[in-house]
Amino acid sequence: MNKRHRVQFPKNELSGSNQDESYFYLHGTSKKRKIKFHEYDEIYQIPGLYEQIFYDRLKCISPNKVTSILESSIKQSQDNFTELRVLDLGAGNGMMGEELKKHGISRLIGVDIIPEAYEALIRDRPGIYDAYYIEDFCKLSKGKKEEIESWQCDCMVTVAALGFGDIPTKAFVNAFNIITNEGWVAFNIKDTFLDKSDETGFSTLIRELIFSKYLDIYHIERYRHRLSVDGQPLHYFAVAARKKADIPPKFMESQGIAI
Ligand SMILES: C[S@@+](CC[C@H](N)C(=O)[O-])C[C@H]1O[C@@H](n2cnc3c(N)ncnc32)[C@H](O)[C@@H]1O
Repeated sequence: MNKRHRVQFPKNELSGSNQDESYFYLHGTSKKRKIKFHEYDEIYQIPGLYEQIFYDRLKCISPNKVTSILESSIKQSQDNFTELRVLDLGAGNGMMGEELKKHGISRLIGVDIIPEAYEALIRDRPGIYDAYYIEDFCKLSKGKKEEIESWQCDCMVTVAALGFGDIPTKAFVNAFNIITNEGWVAFNIKDTFLDKSDETGFSTLIRELIFSKYLDIYHIERYRHRLSVDGQPLHYFAVAARKKADIPPKFMESQGIAI
């Protein structure tokens, strides 16, 4: 059991409007430190802090939600959840991996861009992943790509990691193209990202993909991902789909994604 940290959220934060700028204060023995939500390197280094902020205080339910829609989608097919070989993009300290393992899967491969994520994983959840790569998925070398491909993943998941300056569109497409055809894809994304008025990279990519020949949608659900620092619900869509084909360079160019 990790020790509880003394955490304080700023007062009068506008509800959810500046989600990517959110921060909190961590009270230490002598002084308090301001830490932004996106400073994962700082957060992961302190045992239990990530879980306390996002899961205990802000009630994030996304690993459970995305796993359950993936499971119900697979039940609509001839496939078995327990035979899945999963690539977890933006795996962090293993919250999604832990959830998937509860339901039983065959292989679990994690990827994260920062070493602190891996260090937190082996400190707090050792043995969950069969392999874990510290890589920027936008800049995979040929050798590393082949090594990850050799795991023959037939599912990719990415939870709480798309948009807001986290995983870029190119990393998502690279992971999508690494899994096998007919593989499963499950992720969550903020509800505004499916809104036509939102023209950020992820919004247009996801909207185009949903209606494309590269993906068959099995399940889309709007749900409360977590609370904002001022207690307002932040709604996301959880999406589960089946990959039909690799996303070709032509499609990426049309989305303005550098190849
Ligand atoms: C909010 S955390 C989510 C972690 C975990 N999926 C969860 O649900 O708790 C987002 C993670 O995405 C990782 N990330 C950001 N950009 C990335 C990239 N280009 N490639 C791989 N991981 C990336 C971050 O380091 C961070 O660990």
